Amino acid sequence: MRQPHVPRRSFEQTCAQPGFQRLEQAARLHPGLRFIESDIASPEARERLAAQVRDTLPRLTVLVNNAGIQRRVPLASETADWPARQTEIDTLLSGPVHLTQMLIDHLLTQDTPPLIVNVTSGGAYVAQPFPPLYSACKAAMHSYTMALRHALRMTACRVVEVIPPAVNTQLSGTALGHGADIDIFCDTVFAGLCDSRDEIDFGATAGDEIRTVRQGARALFDKLSERFAVPLFGAQTEALAAFRQTQALTSPQRVSSRADSPQSSSD
Ligand SMILES: NC(=O)c1ccc[n+]([C@@H]2O[C@H](COP(=O)([O-])OP(=O)(O)OC[C@H]3O[C@@H](n4cnc5c(N)ncnc54)[C@H](OP(=O)(O)O)[C@@H]3O)[C@@H](O)[C@H]2O)c1
Repeated sequence: MRQPHVPRRSFEQTCAQPGFQRLEQAARLHPGLRFIESDIASPEARERLAAQVRDTLPRLTVLVNNAGIQRRVPLASETADWPARQTEIDTLLSGPVHLTQMLIDHLLTQDTPPLIVNVTSGGAYVAQPFPPLYSACKAAMHSYTMALRHALRMTACRVVEVIPPAVNTQLSGTALGHGADIDIFCDTVFAGLCDSRDEIDFGATAGDEIRTVRQGARALFDKLSERFAVPLFGAQTEALAAFRQTQALTSPQRVSSRADSPQSSSD
């Protein structure tokens, strides 16, 4: 599972370049790595991306919803026209939800157990007033991730939530220069993926206060989801099959070939 690290010197060089050049350089450093440039905030671009992925990557097993932007604009200071705010919502929430929906059947047909990784934030658990819309979108992504993991629990598909604290990246602008070292953080994420953890926290998001909030909400989710049963991927009932037929939603790919393998959870 662990991928070879891009050497630190090369990583720092690539970070100074615009996205497309960084991808080109990464592909040069890792022969066999292919990339497709796409705008996750655009529904049309997402549809093209999903179609291209289905056509050119028949053995896709991993989807990482990582793209993000953060507008540090408190609500009382907001002056931007709606499109700027809509772009933030589309990048952080509509994009990953739409892409997951379009690729889930493709993932569920694979022989290797698939993996979906959603990157949220400590701001998903405690509202942050300085980037309020960002924090609200991350809270929604956390909620979606819980529901997705639940819906896939009869399949072999793992759903992992990565919950970064402040990490020293370009997200809030290079000037800030704050947050955890990115190499140390990434090592922790890959170790968590190898350990089959389904929530990977670090630093402040692994602290007692946020963990207590997370564990309490998760226990309540487990309790309530037992009470309100919903259809699950890989466990298609006759009633659901009939419903999908009428809605023209039936897809033979939706039923996992590993429907008998319950997902393991270590957290
Ligand atoms: N850094 C932190 O403190 C922190 C804390 C909590 C959570 N996170 C989350 O971690 C994830 C990664 O962020 P990061 O810290 O690595 O920030 P980053 O250095 O700014 O990277 C963000 C990435 O998202 C891509 N992106 C932005 N808008 C996009 C769009 N419309 N379509 C496609 N790609 C787009 C960017 O591509 P280009 O380079 O091509 O623009 C870039 O690769 C995000 O989801 C973020 O919310 C970060």
